[in-house]
Amino acid sequence: MMIEISNKKLEKVVADIHVVLVINKDFTHSSVVDKEFLEFCGFKGESEESLLVQSSNTLYVGCDSLEADDIRLACAQAYEALKKTKAKILKIRTYSSDCPGVNIKAIAEGFTLGAYEFNAYKSKNEEKSLERVVIVLEDYSRVDVSIQTAQKAVDVGVKIADATNYAKDIVNAMPNEMTPEALAQKAEELASSLQNVTCKVFGEEFLKEQGMNAFLAVSRASVHSPKLIHLIYKPENAQKRIVYVGKGLTYDSGGLSLKPSEHMVTMKADKSGASAVMAILKGASELKLPYEIHAIVGATENMIGGNAYKPDDVLIAKNGKTIEVRNTDAEGRLVLADCLCYAQEFKPDELIDMATLTGACVVALGEFTTGVMGHNEAFKQNMVSSAAKSGELSAILPFNKYLKKLLKSSVADMSNISSSRYGGAITAGLFLDNFIEDEYKQKWIHLDIAGPAYIEKAWGYNQFGASGAGVRMNLYRMIDESKDKKILN
Ligand code: BES
Ligand code: ZN
Ligand code: ZN
Repeated sequence: MMIEISNKKLEKVVADIHVVLVINKDFTHSSVVDKEFLEFCGFKGESEESLLVQSSNTLYVGCDSLEADDIRLACAQAYEALKKTKAKILKIRTYSSDCPGVNIKAIAEGFTLGAYEFNAYKSKNEEKSLERVVIVLEDYSRVDVSIQTAQKAVDVGVKIADATNYAKDIVNAMPNEMTPEALAQKAEELASSLQNVTCKVFGEEFLKEQGMNAFLAVSRASVHSPKLIHLIYKPENAQKRIVYVGKGLTYDSGGLSLKPSEHMVTMKADKSGASAVMAILKGASELKLPYEIHAIVGATENMIGGNAYKPDDVLIAKNGKTIEVRNTDAEGRLVLADCLCYAQEFKPDELIDMATLTGACVVALGEFTTGVMGHNEAFKQNMVSSAAKSGELSAILPFNKYLKKLLKSSVADMSNISSSRYGGAITAGLFLDNFIEDEYKQKWIHLDIAGPAYIEKAWGYNQFGASGAGVRMNLYRMIDESKDKKILN
């Protein structure tokens, strides 16, 4: 599906369907030409409501406001309403006079996110007719916006959404296919398809040399060997170095502390953090963002077997700290512990880890919201506000010293689980804190994406399955800070 810009008059643009957004239930807007018929049909103009009027070849879609996320949602809804029709070309106006880039970018994002489908495992796939969406700049008669500026906004919107969809593809891939080796192969393919990107993949020998024994313990019972994947995007004159670390559990059975069967389903999505950091690097390279970006992934499976790591084992992590294993299902933090130690060797200006780390985070915030943790208030606030701009939901979960004490162990430096059943998302974040050097405490953020990463019921413009959680909030954050602000916001 192509998204194009046209500066012709709306009537002159040839299309099968005109998509009209009914903003804030305002039926008096000049583009609502079928007012009476809409009322006759009981169309209220509510969010996620749409109606196709054949006599005027118009699809009306409810849109709560001109906020970017309402526009994304309405455009995704338009796609959903028309995807089974034979319509090939859609036209839509821009609905903004004061802030040129925003709506165009949101339209491009909404259609691209809304059009995502994962059909790799269906034997029959329906052909899609839709070829083109034409964004008509007519509304800009009152604003000084060039076709190039508008094109740039489309380009940015599509690249952000494409990166998000790329993450979804990896997460949705079944665990039998997307093994640690396959994920490493994906990373290598990604590097060779992008500019200024290199990829290194390390195996078991390297992990042993590096003393990454916590990571190795988790991987031991899997027939697939673990991989440490390290992608680097290095543009000329990078302004800072951002190191991302992603939890890449290609499957989490729970290990010997086996998950009950109903909780095991969906655990192919335990590689969502890994997929997100790879997607962020892809987006950054395609958008040519002026930052050096590292995506470090600890890829492995958490399985059972005669050589599985056990509750009661004591592990020595890369930084020499000892960990008493009390639950093998708290494995993500063990893999991340070693990967975070490795990551700090690259002297990050910002260190961000992303993980489907705890069910407790889903209990705390619900299934739509990412938990943001760390020691630097401004950094966390900044992440939350970028998330809001991107349309992702996030909330800060505060650390405190009493929760930290719950990780005490009688036999080792710490336990891998808290002694309390409460506050599990935060105690997991505080476990990771043991592996952050003082120098990096203020530079580190932990994002628990366990809730939004994978959903079994479609919501908003997210389809069933993977959502690419965390990708857009991070790309928006970097875009926000970069020089292109004027166009990109
Ligand atoms: N991968 C899970 C967390 C998870 C749960 C992600 C639900 C997505 C949806 C993680 O490895 C895990 O199992 N965590 C345990 C920790 C507990 C043993 C302290 C959990 O949340 O139950
Ligand atoms: Zn687990
Ligand atoms: Zn896990």
